[in-house]
Amino acid sequence: MTRHLLITGGAGFIAGNLTHHWTAAHPGDRIVVLDALTYAGNRATIAPLIDFGRISFVHGDIGDRALVDGLLADHAITHVVHLAAESHVDRSITGPGAFLATNVNGTFTLLEAFRAHWLAAGSPTDWRFLHVSTDEVFGSLEPDDPPFCETTAYSPRSPYAASKAASDHLARAWQHTYGLPVLVSNCSNNYGPYHFPEKLIPLTLINILLGRPIPVYGDGSNVRDWLFVEDHCHALDRILLAGEPGRTYCIGGCNEVANLDLVHMLCALMDELAPELPVRPSRELIRFVTDRPGHDQRYAIDASRICEELGWQPQVTVQEGLRRTVQWYLTNRDWWQPLLSAEYASYLESQYAARLA
Ligand code: NAD
Ligand code: TYD
Repeated sequence: MTRHLLITGGAGFIAGNLTHHWTAAHPGDRIVVLDALTYAGNRATIAPLIDFGRISFVHGDIGDRALVDGLLADHAITHVVHLAAESHVDRSITGPGAFLATNVNGTFTLLEAFRAHWLAAGSPTDWRFLHVSTDEVFGSLEPDDPPFCETTAYSPRSPYAASKAASDHLARAWQHTYGLPVLVSNCSNNYGPYHFPEKLIPLTLINILLGRPIPVYGDGSNVRDWLFVEDHCHALDRILLAGEPGRTYCIGGCNEVANLDLVHMLCALMDELAPELPVRPSRELIRFVTDRPGHDQRYAIDASRICEELGWQPQVTVQEGLRRTVQWYLTNRDWWQPLLSAEYASYLESQYAARLA
């Protein structure tokens, strides 16, 4: 069967990387990207693939049922990889509405549209809908708690996490009730190329390059389990092609790092690799700022299931992945400089004003 993939959110960070991965790894497949090009979407991430006809790009909202129905039919879609979302916890605290609209209602619309399309085709057993989610749905770990796994109870604590948890429940319910061939993945924090500079790692790198303060929330002791985005793409590839519908897969890097340690690693790499910096050593830019409300202390993933059942393993250590990420931001200013818009500046200003107060 020739696979016809719909990748939602493909102008964003992870789905953009996945689109590059898929065109290289599976050149016989056809790919359509659907993206609303919100502030976080950047056509430049996949422009070479669009411009050379390797993929089709549709500018639109996953919540637009007529658009999605037409796209599924016109492109004879057999596989959906759903990553479009509002993804930033801080924005979900100041403006949760968009998170419910896209992450909950948008996912509902996509599931319903795919269900109708799948039924009309006679319910093929080899079609797939992969719903991509986060470990944040599981809540927060204490230092001695075991990592999250597929049987961990849901306990979302931010508006972002709650909206993703709701969408995970919808995805599983559509599989259980209607038999739709849905899979769910829950992954830890990603980093790497094409990451929008509001998230900790790209924000730190760009602030160092511009000589601006590096905001560390609270005392910097919060822990995240970092996974290089290419490793996540390989995991999604395995799940889509070899995973069992109805099953959930947790994905993580086995790379738990406290935020302050991570920022120190980034500062050291920038001091080593960046030829010119406004402030050196970079760690002089670190500022401890008011903590994020409800800030989850620790996330960590036990990825045994995907390792044992699907033969996936993370390949990139955090030391290597951070070095590659720093080098990418140093050599791809053309990608990130246009993102430093008036909207971006006013967002950062509001964050700093609120947190430094
Ligand atoms: P991102 O914010 O970089 O990209 C999201 C993309 O979705 C953007 O291109 C945006 O334009 C698009 N989009 C937003 N609303 C849309 C809508 N209504 N219709 C169509 N397109 C829309 O996000 P990301 O960090 O790449 O995350 C992608 C997915 O992976 C999300 O579902 C997120 O929950 C999940 N995830 C992210 C991480 C992480 O560390 N970033 C970890 C685990 C899971
Ligand atoms: P982030 O990249 O926003 O991812 P998430 O909240 O989804 O884990 O944040 C990663 C960690 O870094 C999180 O503990 C919050 C913290 N953080 C800072 O200390 N300073 C910042 O400027 C940002 C954006 C995040």
